[in-house]
Amino acid sequence: MSIVLSSGVSLLPLSATKGTGAILKASDDTSLTSLCSVLRDNRSELLALWRTCGAILVRGYQVKTAEDFEKAASTLCHLLDRYPGNAPRNKVTQYVWTSTELPHYLPIPAHAELSYVPKARPAAILFFCEQPSTSFGQTPIVRLTDVWKSLPLWLQDKLERKGGFISVRRADAKGVRVFDFRSRGKPTKTWRAIFETDDPAEVEKQCHQDGVAVEWKNGQKGGDALLKTPFSATRMVDGTKAFSGWFANFIPAGAVIDSLFVAMHTRRARDVLTSVLLAVKCVIQMVVHAMWPSQRLSHSTYADGSEIPLWDIFCIVRAHWKHYVVLSWEKGDVLFVDNDVCGHARLPFDPPRRILTAIA
Ligand SMILES: [Fe+2]
Repeated sequence: MSIVLSSGVSLLPLSATKGTGAILKASDDTSLTSLCSVLRDNRSELLALWRTCGAILVRGYQVKTAEDFEKAASTLCHLLDRYPGNAPRNKVTQYVWTSTELPHYLPIPAHAELSYVPKARPAAILFFCEQPSTSFGQTPIVRLTDVWKSLPLWLQDKLERKGGFISVRRADAKGVRVFDFRSRGKPTKTWRAIFETDDPAEVEKQCHQDGVAVEWKNGQKGGDALLKTPFSATRMVDGTKAFSGWFANFIPAGAVIDSLFVAMHTRRARDVLTSVLLAVKCVIQMVVHAMWPSQRLSHSTYADGSEIPLWDIFCIVRAHWKHYVVLSWEKGDVLFVDNDVCGHARLPFDPPRRILTAIA
C-alpha cells in the first residue's frame, strides 16, 4: 500500500512484510532539480516518515556524481564533514566519502554507524550508488528494535547487565598488521592519519570529545595508541528499546559467524569458501594474538573483561539476519538510513561496484 504525502507525492514500502523502509520513485521529471524540489517541498513529512520506517530509498532520478548526491542529501539533512571512525574510506568531496574499502569478497556484518564512538555517532548515514556491482553486493538494512526483541531473554539480561568494551589499536608508525584485511596489503592506518595530527595531545583531545579513552603503549605518548570505548547494548528509540548497533566485526569469530549466514543466503561457492577461510584465519589469529598482542587490531569484550562467548555472538548475528531487508542497488539510487532506527550491512560483490556515503 502506498504512502501518500499531502503534496500528492507517493512512496511504496521497501518490504512487503517487514515495515522497514520506503521507496520514492521518480515520475515524469527525473532531473536532479526536480528531486531537490521534492525533498525540499516535502521535507517535514519525509523526515517524519524516515524516522518511522527507518530508511528512504530514492530511485530513478538523475543523480550521477558525488556532487549531485551531496546536493540532494543536503536538501534533506545537515551533512557532517568529519568521520572519526576506523573504516578505511577515501574522501571524495567535502561531505562525501567512498563506502568502506573492504575487499569485495568479504561481507560487512550489520552495525549502526560509529556505534563504537558514542559521542560522534551520526543521526543518519546516506549512501549513493554510483556503480552497482554486476551481481550481489546488496545492502541489508535492519530495524534495531526488532533485533533487540529477537534476542533471547537471558542474552538481553546479560547484555544490559554487563555492558562492554570495544578496543582498537592504532600504530604510531606505518606498518602492515598481519590480519588487517581492510588495508589490502597497504600499511595499516596510523593514529596520525586517523586524527590528522602528529600531536598526541590533540589525539587525546579529539578522543575525549568523542567519548573514547586512549592508552599509549608502555605509557609513552606517541607510541601505539589503544582506543577503548565502553558500549551499552541498548538505546531508547522513540520510547522503544533498540539494540545499540554493536559491530560483530570487532571480534574475528563475529565475522566468521556472519559469513556463514551470508553463505547460507547466497549459496555461492565463493562465499562458502570465504567462510571457511575466515574460520581458519580466526583460529590462526587467536594463536598469533596470544603470542604477539600488538597484532590485534580490534577486540570487544564484556565490560568486566570476560570474552563474549560464540553463542552470544551467534544469537546477535542471527537476530539481525532474521529481520534484514536486503536492498539491491540500481545506478543513481540514494538511500537515507536513520542511524538510530536501523543498522546496515554489506554483502560480498563482484566488482566493479562504487557506493559513496555521507553522514548527517
Ligand atoms: Fe557502515
